[in-house]
Amino acid sequence: MFRTNTCGELRLADAGKGVTLAGWVQRVRKMGGMTFVDLRDRYGITQLVFNEEVDGELCARANKLGREDVVQVKGTVNERESKNKNLPTGEIEIIVEELRVLNASKTPPFTIEDNTDGGDDIRMKFRYLDLRRACVRKNLELRHKMTMEVRRYLDSKGFLEIETPMLIGSTPEGARDFVVPSRMNPGQFYALPQSPQTLKQLLMVAGMDRYFQIVKCFRDEDLRADRQPEFTQIDCEMSFVEQEDVISLFEGMAKHLFRTIRGIELTEPFPRMPWSEAMRLYGSDKPDTRFGMEFVELMDVLKGTGDFSVFNDARYIGGICAPGCASYTRKQLDQLTDFVKRSQIGAKGLVYARVQEDGSVKSSVDKFYTQEVLQQLKEAMKAAPGDLILILSGDDAMKTRKQLCELRLEMGNRLGLRDKNKFSLLWVVDFPMFEWSEEEGRLMAMHHPFTHPKDEDIPLLDTNPAAVRADAYDMVCNGVEVGGGSIRIHDPELQDKMFKILGFTEERAQEQFGFLMNAFKYGAPPHGGLAYGLDRWVSLFAGLDSIRDCIAFPKNNSGRDVMLDAPSCLDQKQLDELNLVVDIKE
Ligand code: AMO
Repeated sequence: MFRTNTCGELRLADAGKGVTLAGWVQRVRKMGGMTFVDLRDRYGITQLVFNEEVDGELCARANKLGREDVVQVKGTVNERESKNKNLPTGEIEIIVEELRVLNASKTPPFTIEDNTDGGDDIRMKFRYLDLRRACVRKNLELRHKMTMEVRRYLDSKGFLEIETPMLIGSTPEGARDFVVPSRMNPGQFYALPQSPQTLKQLLMVAGMDRYFQIVKCFRDEDLRADRQPEFTQIDCEMSFVEQEDVISLFEGMAKHLFRTIRGIELTEPFPRMPWSEAMRLYGSDKPDTRFGMEFVELMDVLKGTGDFSVFNDARYIGGICAPGCASYTRKQLDQLTDFVKRSQIGAKGLVYARVQEDGSVKSSVDKFYTQEVLQQLKEAMKAAPGDLILILSGDDAMKTRKQLCELRLEMGNRLGLRDKNKFSLLWVVDFPMFEWSEEEGRLMAMHHPFTHPKDEDIPLLDTNPAAVRADAYDMVCNGVEVGGGSIRIHDPELQDKMFKILGFTEERAQEQFGFLMNAFKYGAPPHGGLAYGLDRWVSLFAGLDSIRDCIAFPKNNSGRDVMLDAPSCLDQKQLDELNLVVDIKE
């Protein structure tokens, strides 16, 4: 038997027992004639003791142990003299009688401790060592617990877990596909699923009624803290449902996860916010509602009421009120101005106004506006003495709102209003069906082309498609889109029309989605669904800044796996077999 117990298991009640433990050497400390070794495994750390006076030869071998050696020890559980309250096993130690080195380790490139000396790159290269650290392992344990609870919940609601293929054709979710060449079909490629969207809809046609899958999805898009090129969805679809049914079932799942994982009881229904409202008040379809600081539109107050041409020429002027920030120094305001002017944000400048203790307003545009106008500004912003008003303007309302959104989040950070232990959930609903793509020069589906328009907006498809709203919904928590879904079109004629508006020729629609359109001709039930982003849920619950930290083997920001050194080149034989010629254009 390799071990009788794990390294996290023994307590004072076990004192006197003979045990065998196995694990990794975390640390060796020599104190006089005594040697202490911290032995670690997934379950914890147990202190081993070697006494030179009792067994000099054994103690000498212990002194030679190196970090991360894998060892097995036999010994007796003993009550510690000086107890360590911070360790669950801190009241005991093992008086070692036998020591066997199972496998010696090279000195690891960084210390395997929560407070490690290893930087990001080295830890990713040696991710299997990084995963030995308790703080990283904890995230994977949480991930496991969450997937178990997801399965438990969905099973209790009658969902079937069904796997769908990874080698498929393109599924449009707005990103580029990762493609796989087919050796047996020269010149042809599979695409890895951006989501199992079309397949889950076919499962509804197949009468599966309630489907789910915890599934890898692949999207070739620019990476961010909450985006990986391969990530995991909790993907679901239901038949004979309306939007309300889907929302209520998945709100139930969110509540189940909060209760079972975080011990938080969410009793109230999650608020719902129409997309247009989210954009107007927060400049984002995923507003962080942990704090207020909503936008106030200031066109009436500041356009044409002074000599400031920037505002007079603007198509949108909006402000936020940062409570208690009137005392910001020149330097702090310059920092904020630099922040909004950064290339990722792209504002031209920042106007500010301080509300003084006597109620008067002092602004960076004082020379253009009378105090009377500035007082109207104060009223409009509902600003109190001590508050700081921050204003952005521009000729494109949507762009300017997005810039103001960044500024609001930055102020939220500066004022400590984005507490990781506070959770603010909402549904964003009534998304527009289409959005204009500058790049493509045409309307694109905002969610995906299978989304059902709101019944009352269907007539607008012919007259004003840009105004059509969809039966689509996103769940947002703390400014993160944790899930999204929609009611689908199940009528082949309506789907046809949708493809036309999206600029598909009949042939192309048939070529790409013929399988789905044909299936719809054989009795497709009304259906709808949703997918949660598992990585985002886990990082939210673990309080992580990046979803990378809850993925066992993540990619870096350039989409590389630095441990596997992938992607990499193929050798000529493989290229030949696949009929591929590599021609890299500079
Ligand atoms: P959507 O594209 O909104 O919808 O994706 C669903 C959820 O998946 C998560 N997510 C991601 N997580 C990490 N990295 C990424 N690159 C990434 N992209 C998306 C988000 C998102 O809310 N088929 C539809 C769902 C449906 O309509 O049922 C879909 O994929 O949390």
